[in-house]
Amino acid sequence: MNVSIFGLGYVGAVTAGCLAELGHHIIGADVQQGKVDAFNAGQSPIIEPELDDLLNSARREGRLHATTDAAEAVAASDVSIICVGTPSLESGRLNLDFVRKVSEQIATALKVSGKAHVIIFRSTMLPGSTRTMVRDFFEDLRVAGQIKIYYCPEFLREGTAVKDFREPSLAVIGTHDGLAPESGEAKQLLGGTPAVLAWEGAEMIKYSCNYFHALKVGFANEIGRLCKFLGEDGTRVMDVVCADTRLNISRYYMKPGNPFGGSCLPKDVSALKSFARMEGISLPLLENTLDTNHAHLDQLIKLIMSKDKRRIGLLGLAFKADTDDLRGSPMVAVAETLIGRGYELRIYDPQLNLARLIGANANEIQRRMPHLASLLKQSPCEVIEQSEIIVASQKCARPDELASAARADHCVIDVNGWRELKTLPWEYEGLCW
Ligand SMILES: NC(=O)c1ccc[n+]([C@@H]2O[C@H](COP(=O)([O-])OP(=O)(O)OC[C@H]3O[C@@H](n4cnc5c(N)ncnc54)[C@H](O)[C@@H]3O)[C@@H](O)[C@H]2O)c1
Repeated sequence: MNVSIFGLGYVGAVTAGCLAELGHHIIGADVQQGKVDAFNAGQSPIIEPELDDLLNSARREGRLHATTDAAEAVAASDVSIICVGTPSLESGRLNLDFVRKVSEQIATALKVSGKAHVIIFRSTMLPGSTRTMVRDFFEDLRVAGQIKIYYCPEFLREGTAVKDFREPSLAVIGTHDGLAPESGEAKQLLGGTPAVLAWEGAEMIKYSCNYFHALKVGFANEIGRLCKFLGEDGTRVMDVVCADTRLNISRYYMKPGNPFGGSCLPKDVSALKSFARMEGISLPLLENTLDTNHAHLDQLIKLIMSKDKRRIGLLGLAFKADTDDLRGSPMVAVAETLIGRGYELRIYDPQLNLARLIGANANEIQRRMPHLASLLKQSPCEVIEQSEIIVASQKCARPDELASAARADHCVIDVNGWRELKTLPWEYEGLCW
């Protein structure tokens, strides 16, 4: 393929070298003459293992050229990959000026030439940015079928960028409607087995990854600071933590849904937080972990109240399915708040047998919800039939039971990703989707 690459920085230069290695013809475009000259001399404009050799070979074999002229780059290619910088403004906001400029240049060149083209945005941009670029520069060309536009985030790491390009850790293609790409160029050029989402989903994946990486580094460093204070080896502690691939390095706690609760997480986070405070160790992530959980719970309560209906049914009350442990359960907090505000409540939880609750569990419910017995129903259908809003926190009913009780005037709030609920005849809203 003939490919133009806009922006010959870390991402663009590596993409150019690696695509040239695969036999594609590359024309690089950059506003910096020095980078263009380096490319045309077969030299890498950045330090990156293997890249000089790749660019040098490509140049010798006549598969690499660079220019400062955007129109020339568009004219010489069938696909344009946009890798220009998206730096932060002084305020922290994202600066999309370079992406806008390149978009405008490519659109102008395509309008003049009338040629078919594929545009792949690769710069990191906030969700909604690709759609904004399309709206502002490309919509008529796209609707006319002259161009196809994809957003494909880049996940390479400087220092191992060439290796990462050859074996991508993740491949994502964003399309305008989230359906399979209309053509194969993005997959063919960028490799991997891509997940396909709408532009906004693909943009969100890039930010989710980097947010997660930043969070992991912050977390490991907070553990490290605590360990140093305790005279422990933070690296060793984290090595052992990472050895648990069932609960720690896994998908287990990685599903948006219920706030955390139960008898351990809130208590242990609280204890560690007050210990760090007492010892004067600054741990802002730990400090704010309970707050983010409260914010999530508040959002659920606001969502329920926004529906302007008074009869609420809760499916699931314990802090998670298959337990009768009510200690620290977020759904108990939801129930308490709703009762306090005069809502009518009905609850179904298949594991809950009040006669069998003992000890701290029984005390907690006696203290927080002394009338629980009168709210508990024997079947999910009873709850559904007598409620206007159903808050589904656990997957605690069979689909056929739900289907028999579902009515179009019900509103269902799905807290926990119980996607079958969406298919039934009622108004459906997920807490996180
Ligand atoms: N560096 C990384 O490791 C990495 C990894 C993944 C994603 N990203 C993202 O990829 C994008 C590029 O990052 P980078 O590190 O390669 O940036 P960079 O600053 O190294 O390079 C950007 C290049 O774009 C050029 N440019 C600016 N305006 C231009 C225009 N109108 N026409 C042509 N070229 C123009 C600049 O001169 C520069 O050479 C950013 O959005 C970044 O967040 C970077």
